[in-house]
Amino acid sequence: MKRTHHCSELSAKDAGQKASLIGWVDTIRDHGGLVFVDLRDREGLTQIVFDPQNPTFAQVANELKPESVIGVTGTVQPRPQETVNARLATGEIELIAEALDVHNISAPLPFPLGDDKVGEDLRLKYRYLDLRNPRRLNLLRLRHQASGAIRRYLDEQGFLEIEMPTLFKSTPEGAREFLVPSRLNPGNFYALAQSPQQYKQILMVAGVERYYSMARCYRDEDLRADRQPEFTQVDLELSFIDREDIYALIEGMLQRVWKEALGVSVEAPFPRMPYNEVMNRYGVDKPDTRFNLELKDFTETFKNSEFKVFASAAQSGGCVKAFNAKGLSDITQGELKNLEDIAKTLGAKGLAFIKAEEGGWKSPILKFLSDDEQATLKESLNIEPGDLIFFAATEWERACAILGRIRLEAAQLLVQRERLEIPKDQYNFLWVVDFPLMSYDEEVGSYAATHHPFTAPVPEDIPLLDTDPKSVRGQHYDIVLNGVELGGGSIRIHQPAVQKKVFEEVLNIPKDLVKSRFGYMLEAFKYGAPPHGGIALGFDRLAAILGGQSSIREVVAFPKTQRGQDLMSESPGPASEKQLEDLFIRSVPPVG
Ligand code: AMO
Ligand code: AMP
Repeated sequence: MKRTHHCSELSAKDAGQKASLIGWVDTIRDHGGLVFVDLRDREGLTQIVFDPQNPTFAQVANELKPESVIGVTGTVQPRPQETVNARLATGEIELIAEALDVHNISAPLPFPLGDDKVGEDLRLKYRYLDLRNPRRLNLLRLRHQASGAIRRYLDEQGFLEIEMPTLFKSTPEGAREFLVPSRLNPGNFYALAQSPQQYKQILMVAGVERYYSMARCYRDEDLRADRQPEFTQVDLELSFIDREDIYALIEGMLQRVWKEALGVSVEAPFPRMPYNEVMNRYGVDKPDTRFNLELKDFTETFKNSEFKVFASAAQSGGCVKAFNAKGLSDITQGELKNLEDIAKTLGAKGLAFIKAEEGGWKSPILKFLSDDEQATLKESLNIEPGDLIFFAATEWERACAILGRIRLEAAQLLVQRERLEIPKDQYNFLWVVDFPLMSYDEEVGSYAATHHPFTAPVPEDIPLLDTDPKSVRGQHYDIVLNGVELGGGSIRIHQPAVQKKVFEEVLNIPKDLVKSRFGYMLEAFKYGAPPHGGIALGFDRLAAILGGQSSIREVVAFPKTQRGQDLMSESPGPASEKQLEDLFIRSVPPVG
């Protein structure tokens, strides 16, 4: 039996026609005289009506379990008016079964499909059953629609899709790498590519002009909801362009994706904000701008304060920042303690607060604050009864990071109390620009590239490379959406001399290391490197946001857990002695 239709297709106009459907038994309802089976395939559900006297059906009736695979041929019949199901595409009809093929009887299921309370570990162990839930399968379909839209768009824009090697060598993109031993080169290792960054730049030297790939990338990081050890980037690189060209290109691409995958029109151009401003206002370089609760600076206000914690931060080059968690003065002791603990993990010494209540302000620090200071706070933070103010007094970046995080936590508490709405279907795209090219790494005691060492400085800042490297801005841009860093990229350095200077003099990478790691790039750049730049978008993150999911695991067919395991295939697994021997590797068990 071959299918004539999908389970979503038959309707009243097919009444009287013969049809054959194949799929999975979704539900079985035995009404004595008749047995109703909802048959499900990728596209939908159709109700099948079996006569229990039908000899093939009678033979299997007792064994037929949900999730068994069957094929049915029958006649389409309009349902009696009172049983029409308006929520189902095929709800006007049913198929009166005449012939039945049983392809496979399903064993009892390890968990009820579609039950949202089932733990994620169990779902992942049986991911193939998990994906039978149409809501979950539809997330993969959405991902497919998004990649289709991207491919068509980039094709129209003159890009060549080129696959990149994933067996590469160590690169300086900041993440820990997966090493792959080389059997043919004993003692040597590949690193799985963190991204195709160097290769795509070399493609520009090769004259490709416009490259893209849906690049598989590998990073051995601590995993979170928005990180997987292997993930996909929409990776692209272009020659003879500037930042404006990239912004317009990506805005057009995202508009196309949102239109084709969701039917949503996105407005462009997207707003742009310098790094300093996003940090000052939102305390994070990937702000969720769907709600306010913005941070304000009070360093000047507290320079000579009685409250020594604030005064000393203000006088020693740090800052005092605060924000109004509007309407959160009824925060519980437990919630407050939790926020304090979070602040401490970010290096805060404490988390000063003021509760504005009907009867007046309450705070352990109130007695230290002068009338003037209180008036300034009241005015500038628009403090009204019911509000809760948080403070951080320390170095600028740390103070921003602490309050940036507390702002997000406070927003969640306000959402729980239904005092703040963060609309899921609002898409606040934002370009964050003017990042510092380099950041000082206190542990190492030198400057490190904020993103990667190939980013070109903003031209007017180049003289500062020698005198004040910290204040040099990079031609880097991040694309941020609703608090998620969707992607990042930059205009690259294309003059070998500047690149060499950045490696050796600014980033202080020893000459021999520069040669062994990047020698081939510097060499390539000698033979006519075009000006170029590019960007990579985290495609899993993009798909997750499209699908309204908070975890990218939901849009990955076979995701790994927080411990980097695939619970279904039980990978990673041990290697045999023979395998290790072949690779010249000895395994040392962890101590303790
Ligand atoms: P970057 O390291 O910022 O840039 O990566 C680009 C985007 O990839 C996504 N991403 C991840 N997604 C899922 N799991 C992960 N572990 C993970 N790590 C990163 C993010 C991120 O914004 N070569 C440069 C790009 C360039 O300069 O062109 C690069 O890789 O969404
Ligand atoms: P202390 O005088 O150290 O007891 O601090 C008084 C209040 O200020 C307490 O609520 C602390 O949590 C808070 N606090 C201490 N240090 C800081 C800081 N650097 N930034 C913000 N609040 C702080």
